[in-house]
Parts: sequence; structure tokens; C-alpha cells
Amino acid sequence: MEKDAYASLVHQIKTILKKNARGKPPLIRLSRETAALLESVTVPDTMQKPHLEEVSVESVSESPPDNEKAACTVESPCIQSAGPDSLAKISAEISACKKCPLYATRLHTVAGEGNPSASLVFVGEAPGASEDRQGRPFVGRAGQLLTDIISKGMKMSRDDVFICNVLKCRPPENRVPNPEEIMYCEPYLLRQLDLIRPKVICALGAVAAHTLLKNDLTISRLRGEWHTYHGIALRVTYHPAYLLRNPADKVKTWDDVKEILQFLNA
Ligand code: URA
Repeated sequence: MEKDAYASLVHQIKTILKKNARGKPPLIRLSRETAALLESVTVPDTMQKPHLEEVSVESVSESPPDNEKAACTVESPCIQSAGPDSLAKISAEISACKKCPLYATRLHTVAGEGNPSASLVFVGEAPGASEDRQGRPFVGRAGQLLTDIISKGMKMSRDDVFICNVLKCRPPENRVPNPEEIMYCEPYLLRQLDLIRPKVICALGAVAAHTLLKNDLTISRLRGEWHTYHGIALRVTYHPAYLLRNPADKVKTWDDVKEILQFLNA
């Protein structure tokens, strides 16, 4: 198993076990020793992360023409065709994806948009109602705030950066993505980031931060310092939807944005 998939699996298993152990009443009981053992499980450094373009030709098959493309499902996952990966190829796979039940309720998939060579990528949580209707990320109220942060705050344009989400389909009623949905969708995000290789990733909110950093620390613990994601500098800040509800914290996001700008201009 490739390193990213293993890290994701370990993270999801830990999250599911912890959630069930903390429930009221707890669905499972973990002894102190088992809980400590679980915490100590990490990804061995010896595990190789094959670069996507290094996948051997024997392990892939030619992609069928678009009109014959079957949906990507768990039983029959989309097989990457030979040749280099591309953002367009990822978007096409996302459009056909049926790996989790969200495909049944979505109006559109939302792969992400922006500059394919962006030096800055924003990663949010999941599309909301407006994004689901338009097939574009961050176009609702939270999106307007993100656009203001980029244009008024950073003096950049949405076309300079790349904007995407952990989930590419809207969870009904905008509920928080569940671990299974993240597990199936995360590989698309990892491939997007691997192709763009920006200078900085800005994780917007807890779902993006936890998915990329493989921990479950609070946003207040995670923001205010630099992290690394596969050798790429990563900064965590509040999700714009949270800032709409808690405008007093906008000043903290402004601090985070200034750090990112300094880093980009260094
Ligand atoms: N919230 C997100 O996390 N992403 C969007 O695209 C819109 C709202």
C-alpha cells in the first residue's frame, strides 16, 4: 500500500475508534494500554511513496473513451491511464465518481478551480448548496469572504491561486464530512496537490487541517505556526464560514494571511 493511503487509513481508523470510545454511551471501550498503542501507530519511514508518474505501465490500462467511461466505484475503482496525471484527468474521474453515497444527492461535483501552477492553494471542507448548484468551489457567502481575503486582503485574484476542498461532493444539509467520505475523496486532493506543488497550502478549518496533517488538534493549536505537507509549507487558518459566525476572529486570519504573504514574497 502506498504511504499516503496507509497514513490516511491509520488516521481514519484512529478517528473512528476515538469517536466511538468517546460516545455517550461509548460503543467500544479501549483500555489505557490499547489507547496508548493506537496513538503510537505511525507511518513507517521505510514505506515508499511512489510518485504518481512512476506507476508502472503494467499496473495501468488504457483509459476508455469518454462515452464508455464507467463510474469509479469501490468495487471497480477508476484506473489511472498510462501517461502523466493531469488536473483535467482528475476532474473527469471526480465527475464519474460513485465511490461513496454522496454521488446520489449531488447536483454537480466540485473538483476545484484556479491556476494549475499556483504558488498558493486554499483547501476547504466540502461544497455547500451554491457550490453544488454551480460546480465551483467557494461561491456562496463563505466563498465571498474568501474572495475578499484573496482580493482585498492579499491583493491577488482568485485566478492566481487554486481553490479546492477535501470532499468534491456536497454532504446533505452541509453536515460535516464523515471519515469514509474523506477516505474515498482524499486521493483526488492528494493528486491535485502533487501536480500543483504550490509554495504554500492554506488549510481552511478543521476538516482540511486534520485531513492534511493527520492529527486532530484544535484550530487554535494548529494556527500561528508553519507545518509541512509532503515538503510543502502549510498554514492553518479559520474556515470563512466560521469567520462569518465569529467576525472577531477575522483579525487572526488576517495575521495568518500576512504570514503567508511574507513567505510567498520571501
Ligand atoms: N465551504 C467549503 O468548505 N467549501 C466550499 O467550497 C464552500 C463552502
